[in-house]
Amino acid sequence: MGAGSLGSGPALTALTAVARYAIRGPAVAFRGDPFLVPADEALWYEPDAVVAIRGERIADIGPAADVLARLPPATPVVRYPRALLMPGFIDCHVHYPQLGIAGAVGYPLLDWLERYTFPAEAAFADAGHAGRVAAVFLDQLRRNGTTTAAVYGTVHPQSVDALFTAALPTGLRVFAGKALMDRNAPAGLLDTARRGYDESKGLIARWHGRGGRLHHALTLRFVATSTPEQLEATAALWREHPGMLLQSHLAENTAELGWVHELFPEARDYTDVFDRFGLLGPGAVFGHGIHLSALERERLAASGAAIAHCPTSNLALGSGLFDVAATRSAGVMVGLATDVGAGTTLSMLATMGAAMLVARLRGASLHPAQALWLATAGAARTLGLGAVTGNLAPGLDADLVVINPASTPLLAERMTTVTGIDDVLTALMTLGDDRNVVATYAGGRRVFG
Ligand code: GUN
Ligand code: ZN
Repeated sequence: MGAGSLGSGPALTALTAVARYAIRGPAVAFRGDPFLVPADEALWYEPDAVVAIRGERIADIGPAADVLARLPPATPVVRYPRALLMPGFIDCHVHYPQLGIAGAVGYPLLDWLERYTFPAEAAFADAGHAGRVAAVFLDQLRRNGTTTAAVYGTVHPQSVDALFTAALPTGLRVFAGKALMDRNAPAGLLDTARRGYDESKGLIARWHGRGGRLHHALTLRFVATSTPEQLEATAALWREHPGMLLQSHLAENTAELGWVHELFPEARDYTDVFDRFGLLGPGAVFGHGIHLSALERERLAASGAAIAHCPTSNLALGSGLFDVAATRSAGVMVGLATDVGAGTTLSMLATMGAAMLVARLRGASLHPAQALWLATAGAARTLGLGAVTGNLAPGLDADLVVINPASTPLLAERMTTVTGIDDVLTALMTLGDDRNVVATYAGGRRVFG
């Protein structure tokens, strides 16, 4: 089934310039957090919904019969009668410079960094190369239905300039920063505490808040590649910019844990390294958090820091099986992320499926509503965007994805036996990918499809 048979209505290109329009089709959204209330109460499913859009925001949403009656007369309506509308996906941890090494499995984290990652990142000293890869990356986000992403650059500030330059006209929401790293990496990938501070400050001045959808994120690669001086300088910069995102990696791999303990023997545990330098708090988003003690989860929760769960990366590097349930019940915010290039897909649908499989390997079940929450509303909360995006509700940004549930022969067959919306979602997550994405809307603009 092609996209043409799924969507109909006024010419889509004309609509992007229209301030008011509506999208009609089956839809899912959230009425609550499925980790806190039963999934069937948390998930809203409407077989014939209308999402009314005014400018960048959702003005109204509900059953078609109700919303159509409230719409101003002659509002154009785009119809997707056989698709499924969902909140736009949010990838809260991804490395765009690693696109070229995605899928290079076979080694654990530290070997993978040396063998594949550092050589690939060295090439981003060349702004032209960075611009070319940034364009491919942003195109991948759109065609996967990802409307917001928190992205790592390389140590080179030009890698972030290239990404933001390419992202500005797309309408996608992008958080990014240059990787701060001043030790334990090849010479071409090192800054200094001073230089990292100054270059990040330059990026903040050039980009933070641009177009309303670009945000700088302080990007500490991980504490093993930063000196105590760099951790101090980064904490100072974070204090100078309240509310700014701070992203890093935490407790991903057991060999990494041993190394961090050698580098910071005075710290009680991995989380305490960040704590000692003033690098915990709201806006701190840590990739992985697999090997955390209960005490560390408590400390993360109390500080307001969040975890980006990266299941395909954790499987590819053999890092371990993240415990979503324990992390959420400790009160830590969790979002879902691809972590490409260690991650093996930029599809958030496939990433939700991987999160379900990782939970199974732990002997637990992740409900499809919970997986979808992690990829939308949950991820929005990790980025401080809970009141901005991540759900379909009046007042939120009109960030949404239109999914064809029967995009492949296998899914088409599977859809003949589904028993309800939970079953549809599970099949989409375990069997789906970018081929399911019919259209992507970001900030009220159709950016793909
Ligand atoms: N730890 C430090 N750097 C990286 C990276 O690039 N990817 C992953 N998955 N973990 C890291
Ligand atoms: Zn990562």
